[in-house]
Amino acid sequence: MTDKASGTWSGRFSEPVSDLVKRYTASVFFDCRMAAQDIRGSLAHARMLTRQGIISQQDLADIERGMAQIASEIERGEFTWRLDAEDVHMNIEQRLTALIGDAGKRLHTGRSRNDQVATDIRLWLRDTLDSILELLAEFQKNLLDLAEKHAGTPLPGHTHLQVAQPVTFGHHLMAYYEMTRRDAERFTDVRRRVNRLPLGAAALAGTSYPIDREFVARELGFDEVCENSLDAVSDRDFAIEFCAAVALAMTHLSRFSEEIILWMSPRFGFIDLADRFCTGSSIMPQKKNPDVPELVRGKTGRVNGHLVGLLTLMKGQPLAYNKDNQEDKEPLFDAADTMIDTLRIYADMLTGIRVKDGNMREALKLGFATATDLADYLVKRGLPFRDAHEAVALAVRAAEAQGCDLPEMSLDALRGSMAHVAGAADRLDEDIFGVLTVEGSLASRNHIGGTAPAQVRAAIARARARLVR
Ligand code: ARG
Repeated sequence: MTDKASGTWSGRFSEPVSDLVKRYTASVFFDCRMAAQDIRGSLAHARMLTRQGIISQQDLADIERGMAQIASEIERGEFTWRLDAEDVHMNIEQRLTALIGDAGKRLHTGRSRNDQVATDIRLWLRDTLDSILELLAEFQKNLLDLAEKHAGTPLPGHTHLQVAQPVTFGHHLMAYYEMTRRDAERFTDVRRRVNRLPLGAAALAGTSYPIDREFVARELGFDEVCENSLDAVSDRDFAIEFCAAVALAMTHLSRFSEEIILWMSPRFGFIDLADRFCTGSSIMPQKKNPDVPELVRGKTGRVNGHLVGLLTLMKGQPLAYNKDNQEDKEPLFDAADTMIDTLRIYADMLTGIRVKDGNMREALKLGFATATDLADYLVKRGLPFRDAHEAVALAVRAAEAQGCDLPEMSLDALRGSMAHVAGAADRLDEDIFGVLTVEGSLASRNHIGGTAPAQVRAAIARARARLVR
């Protein structure tokens, strides 16, 4: 059967498209995943047409019955998706007409696939955003549980990947909580702009039928209607924004993954990861590789690509709808799938992290992590900060020469090391050793945002309160 004969394009065409063109232009094999949204949108449209007296009650009853059957066919995997019918919209409409006759042909009154597809994507993305927000909350809950367990577990904080100052592992994890909190804010914000109704824009200019867009918006749970018909059918900025939010969230998880990979390496030896997130090597029997975090890092590149792909798709398009926009779906779907799978896997992976706190503490001895505390001690006793900085630099050099950490030096050796800085040595007393301990250093950073265990616990409590809302 040719397209002409099958009724897809009517009498306007004198020859059918080639099989290659058919395959090239079709979207059904990827947009069929919006079938539920397509049906939802069509039912709302049909109800509106009926209320407005544009189609009859009987038409609506037939459409509702036909759509119920189609929905169940799709659900049971019995629906035949036909390349001939090009996309999800025409596949469903043609099946509807085959099932119920003329009422099926009336469904498309006052509507175009242009506003239909824009509506479907927005419905689909809204559902997806809700799943993502739920999964993010689950991730955060598991992150908070782990952070709470380790609110007081010291590990070296790094800058430039050099040991800098002691922090707690809980504090370190809470940095990722903050990142994902902003991610959740971004997804919530994207949702506001996604949740606007294009239907009613028709092909591009609106329609001459007495439609009621506000009714359709209410039926479909949209907050408002898109206020310009040309814009409604053409712009995909909401999908681009979504991909930007995904790219950022994935970037955060990629950084976290990078750390998990480093921490798992025996060079660090800070954590072990449950076997279910690792794989072995086909040649080296001893290997246990952190494949899952490595793939999170790798898949971040792929979603960044989707963002750039969509921006590029949009940038040269004149108003209004162009077929280019059909290319929005695969990147959008893949970005969403990647985000959802990653969050699911990560939430579970967090429960599979075993912390080797002994190694974390050992590592703290290697980088003079409390040197700043020594300088701050001298400053609090009246030495100008730059002099204190110099005095401690000398002490670190001496410790290095002695092959020990600062708290392991005697008071005399410490004093002697800074003899060249006027006023430094006599400001040092026995109580310096309280300051030079990791616990002393941690506890002293006792302000909002600081690493003192009490502050970390308070931050976790605030985060939990946000979660239950
Ligand atoms: N499959 C199309 C898409 O995804 C639906 C809209 C087609 N509109 C058109 N005028 N050809 O964009």
